[in-house]
Amino acid sequence: MKRKVTKAIFPVAGLGTRFLPATKSVPKEIMTLVDRPLIQYAIDEAREAGIKEFIFVTSRGKSALEDYFDHAPELENSLKAKNKTRLLDILETTNMDSGAIAYIRQHKPMGLGHAVWCARRLIANEPFAVILPDDVIAADKPCLAQMVEAYEETGGSMVAAMRVPEEKTSSYGILDVESETAGGLVKVRGMVEKPTADKAPSNIAVIGRYILTPDVLGNLNAAELGAGGEIQLTDAIATEIANNRPVHGFQFEGQRFDCGSKAGFLQATVSFALAREDLHDDFYRFLSDVIPVAQAAE
Ligand code: G1P
Repeated sequence: MKRKVTKAIFPVAGLGTRFLPATKSVPKEIMTLVDRPLIQYAIDEAREAGIKEFIFVTSRGKSALEDYFDHAPELENSLKAKNKTRLLDILETTNMDSGAIAYIRQHKPMGLGHAVWCARRLIANEPFAVILPDDVIAADKPCLAQMVEAYEETGGSMVAAMRVPEEKTSSYGILDVESETAGGLVKVRGMVEKPTADKAPSNIAVIGRYILTPDVLGNLNAAELGAGGEIQLTDAIATEIANNRPVHGFQFEGQRFDCGSKAGFLQATVSFALAREDLHDDFYRFLSDVIPVAQAAE
């Protein structure tokens, strides 16, 4: 019997140097997409997929993240006294049940595989999800919920996947495809971390959502340094295939934004703002005014 996926790891130890100086004192996961920090989108997606335990792999300088998920008694009391129920409801989405959230420190930045491995004792012998909060996915049904449904059929390990332009393969884990079904499910026969276009086995890239078996943690126990001199999650998943255990790529429905880059963050901001009923009209008018001016200046 396949076990339900109830635990998720959120690797949030990165320094966020691409967003300096903002990230000098603010963790990048707290940076705001419209009015919610990136990490809130990741948590909401996890909850909607049935995740009950949230494991953050953090590093020095990330205490703002812990505060974010804590209660804020002064703020709550002041809102209660003023009867601001709507704001209290918004605040409630940041609350976590006692014991549902754990923080583990990754002492050295040794790669995504190492970050996931740091959480091994909290996962024990269960399948688990990994969510990279930099990858924000707008979808009617959240990406991880789509994957959990597909995983109920496939078992094994599964990675979110999407086609990328060939010149971008060196930014992603890339799948070597054995076969592909009409529904977008890919049977994987190999995986390579960040290959150049001439070495890439396809242009189907891994996006930051994973459902993994505990065997992957076992593979990480023995992992060697991979691309970029780091311990790569991609390599530990590829070892599953070498051990004859199934790995699938799941081409989700939805639009993915790379909020680890400035351009991606800006695109997400525009897109999420346009999708918001309370902001749409004013923002749309603003864009309609500025775009012709920008075009004229070209
Ligand atoms: C990580 C993974 C890579 C994956 C990517 C998705 O890379 O190592 O396999 O394709 O996330 O965003 P990073 O972007 O952290 O360098």
